Amino acid sequence: MADTNPLSNCRLAFIGCGVMAEAIIAGMLRKKLVGPEQIAGSHPRQSRREEMHVKYGVEMFEDNREAVTATAPESPDASSIVVLAVKPQRLNRVLQELKGSLVKEQLVVSIVAGAKIETIGEELVHASIVRTMPNTPAQIGEGVTAWTASAGVSEEQESQVCAMLEALGKTVRVENERQIDMATALSATGPTYIFLVMEALIDAGVHMGFSRHVAQELVHQMMLGSVLFARESHKHPAELRNMVTSPGGTSAEAIYQMEKGGLRTVLSKAVWSAYQRAESLGKR
Ligand SMILES: NC(=O)c1ccc[n+]([C@@H]2O[C@H](COP(=O)([O-])OP(=O)(O)OC[C@H]3O[C@@H](n4cnc5c(N)ncnc54)[C@H](OP(=O)(O)O)[C@@H]3O)[C@@H](O)[C@H]2O)c1
Repeated sequence: MADTNPLSNCRLAFIGCGVMAEAIIAGMLRKKLVGPEQIAGSHPRQSRREEMHVKYGVEMFEDNREAVTATAPESPDASSIVVLAVKPQRLNRVLQELKGSLVKEQLVVSIVAGAKIETIGEELVHASIVRTMPNTPAQIGEGVTAWTASAGVSEEQESQVCAMLEALGKTVRVENERQIDMATALSATGPTYIFLVMEALIDAGVHMGFSRHVAQELVHQMMLGSVLFARESHKHPAELRNMVTSPGGTSAEAIYQMEKGGLRTVLSKAVWSAYQRAESLGKR
């Protein structure tokens, strides 16, 4: 493994091996950032523990504390990351369990929606904490994860977090937790907006008379191609839209109807409400 790999000397514990933890583990192993012997996981169900062990060769524990202890740094040049990957409603119990089992060199990375750095730090009596907000395309390595770190996190730990999260797709470091709430509304809730628009367009295709699978094929590739084109052209979306809007044409007619129906306002309100919701969920 190349020396430039920030995770080459790092051990990782995944507390709660569900969908997201598996996506990170699978991504890191696929990219050969770590070997299975560097990873431990915990899960309450034996069948899931067996599944994770057979599939990835990682050591699995029933007790969350044992996974943390098994991955504690063994020497001064070794490092360790503990990833909190349980559902928000389980977090309090897990934090109470883990209290006192971490050494101060271990970095805690939370992917739990809404859980504040201060809360995790207070519960664990721990200083180095990173809070992240991934999204569902992370499950196929095409996600985007916003993250921010507490003051106790070193530069080396930050590069380790970046490398780990890149297993899920792109990463964006944001300045503070307010921006994590903003990312929750935009990029983490974002797939919901896109899937709703996707569904509406497919239904519109069926309404005109296409079979569902043809409508789906046309819409999927149109959306994928539009995003790639927008990214590669580096043009403002309005410019791209103007390029295909000829006078009296179909795009002009469709835009008129979308503006009349308030699509832009509805999307803006949806994102703003999701942001307010994210903020209120984070309040203790
Ligand atoms: N999925 C996403 O796209 C996404 C996006 C952004 C953020 N997140 C955040 O990521 C976190 C994990 O989400 P997920 O989708 O991976 O959820 P998940 O699939 O439900 O994973 C959580 C796992 O933890 C297990 N668990 C339950 N109680 C536990 C305990 N006391 N100790 C250890 N493990 C326990 C669960 O087991 P059981 O199934 O037996 O209950 C489950 O397998 C959540 O906090 C969520 O907010 C997820």
